[in-house]
Formats: sequence, C-alpha cells, structure tokens
Amino acid sequence: MADDGSILVTGAAGQLGGVGRTVTSLLLDRGLPVRAMVRREDDRAAALRAAGAEVVVGDLLEPADVYRVVSGCRRVYFGMSVSAGYLEASVTMAAVAREVGVDALVNMSQMTVSQMSIQQTTPSPQQRQHWLSEQALAWSGLPVVIIRPTVFLEGFFLPLTGPTVRERGRIELPFGRGKTNPVAAADVARVVAAVLADPGPHLHRIYELTGPRSQDLHGVAREYSDALNREVTYSDILPEEWERELKGKGLPEYLTRHLVTMAELNRAGRYDRLADGVERVTGRPAMSVREFVSLHADDFGGRRS
Ligand SMILES: NC(=O)c1ccc[n+]([C@@H]2O[C@H](COP(=O)([O-])OP(=O)(O)OC[C@H]3O[C@@H](n4cnc5c(N)ncnc54)[C@H](OP(=O)(O)O)[C@@H]3O)[C@@H](O)[C@H]2O)c1
Repeated sequence: MADDGSILVTGAAGQLGGVGRTVTSLLLDRGLPVRAMVRREDDRAAALRAAGAEVVVGDLLEPADVYRVVSGCRRVYFGMSVSAGYLEASVTMAAVAREVGVDALVNMSQMTVSQMSIQQTTPSPQQRQHWLSEQALAWSGLPVVIIRPTVFLEGFFLPLTGPTVRERGRIELPFGRGKTNPVAAADVARVVAAVLADPGPHLHRIYELTGPRSQDLHGVAREYSDALNREVTYSDILPEEWERELKGKGLPEYLTRHLVTMAELNRAGRYDRLADGVERVTGRPAMSVREFVSLHADDFGGRRS
C-alpha cells in the first residue's frame, strides 16, 4: 500500500453507534483520507467503501495483518469490540506502530481505568485489559492519545433498556441508587475524529468523557419520559436476575462478566463522574440522555404525540 498519509480506523464496521464507524464518516466528511479496517467483506464494508473509505480486511490478532494495514498510515485509531483478545491486539498494534513509525495513536479505553492501579483493580476482564494496554502504550514511547469514556448510550443503554422501555415503560437494571452519567458514542467519535484530524495539541493527553449530568436511574428515567412524552420508570432489579437475563441472551461469558462488574460499580457510585472532555476537544457540549432518547425514539417504542 502506498504511503498516502491515510488515517487508519480499526473496528470500522462496528455496531449501531460503533465508534470506528462514526469516526470514519466524520473524517471523510472533513475530506481526510481514511483506511477503514474491517474483519470481513459484508454490507457494512461495502457501505464504508461507497462512502469513500479505503476498506482493508484483517484480524487485529494477526500481526502480519496489522502490519499490512498500518503500513502507509501516519495516524491510527485503535478500538475493537469488548473481547478476550483485547490486550494482545493492543500490544500487537503498539509493536507495529513502533515499527512503522506513526505520528499519533488514539487508543480507546474506559473511564474506570482512571480509578485503577496495581493495588486497585476490578473483576471486569475488559477493564483489566484496558489498564494493562494503557501501561504497555505508555512504555512504548509512542505518541499516544488516550480516550476514556464512561458507559455508552448506544452500546449499553439502547440495547439493554430499549426492549423493556418499549414493552413496559421501565428501565430495569441493577444499578441501585448509584449515579451514572452515560455518554453518546457519537460524541466519543466526535472527540476521536477531532484528535485524529489535528493530533498535535492532544499528544500524550488522556481525555475522560461523560455526558452532561450525573444522576441516579430515577433521574435518567425522567429524561426518557420527557423525550418520549410518556411515563418511564426505573426498576432496581436484583443483580443475579440481570445476570441470568444476560446469560439467557447468549452473551459471551467474557462480556457478561464485564457487564455485571459495570453494574456493581454503578451501584457502588463509581460511575458518579462528570468530565468535560467532549466539550474541551470538540467545542460542543456532550449530548444529554433526553436528546439521545429523542433522536432514537423509535428504538424506545416511539414518542407519544
Ligand atoms: N460500550 C460501552 O459502554 C463502552 C464504554 C466505554 C468504553 N468502551 C470501549 O469501546 C470499545 C468498543 O467500541 P465500539 O462500541 O465502538 O466497538 P464495537 O462497535 O463493539 O466493535 C468495533 C469492531 O471491532 C471489530 N473487531 C472485533 N474483533 C476484531 C478483530 N480481532 N480484528 C478486527 N476487528 C475486530 C468488530 O468487527 P465485527 O463487527 O466484524 O465483529 C467490530 O466491528 C471497547 O474498547 C470498549 O471497552 C465501551
């Protein structure tokens, strides 16, 4: 591949609200050349190509694939789905980025890492891998920018509260009275795209990203109610009940352990955070829960007229 100064975006196929997918379109909108890495040729890959990205297929756990896709790129966004091979993929990316020599590596992490240390960890295998990945990137000496968002509205609240809000008008989660402050993955992607477009001022920084308001789930439910113009309430379910439900959905054990830990930390008040990274980097405040639910009203059962 030629050295065309493309920006590599990994995990570009993504789910609804997947960060890589949105970053790709935001960079293309800015007229920047993007190499979008996907795992396989499918409709999502075709859509990225139609939008103007150079689509490359590869596995982030295969060093030769990573070397092939990074070669010729000066800037890289590294992110992939919550999965057991995360640390291996991060370290592979770091080794390749050192070999190739990149100007900026933007690394997706999690806000929980801000409260972690050798002595203080969490039972989530994903949070542990993010902490270790950040350590490895620090040792690498690469020009890294770390993005630490809190829980996503798209990746968590939409799939895990959408069905019960549609069917029963209830948010059913085992978060107790813990406060939380979800962020829209769309905002996270805006931050990543802004950094990739002009990395210089951001190098070696860590950005923590939350929404604009930390509140318990009764408060979150009120924002849902306002957005949908009908009553939505919060029901604090038992953690074991929720874990059984997640297992019933057939989620991988690794992801279930991560989600169960997130709920535990939410109950313990560990997600009660307010960070201004979205506004600081993009100049625009983070989206509220109400705005998000309004935008996705159909997925929550629609807005009553
Ligand atoms: N969801 C949250 O609430 C939340 C909050 C804070 C931080 N985060 C962090 O955000 C990241 C996930 O971001 P996201 O939601 O944007 O990701 P995503 O959409 O779930 O995943 C991005 C892509 O990674 C690809 N992928 C997975 N394994 C791969 C491999 N071995 N090789 C190549 N590609 C691979 C997937 O491909 P396929 O689609 O083909 O499977 C997927 O399209 C994680 O690091 C997570 O810890 C998430």
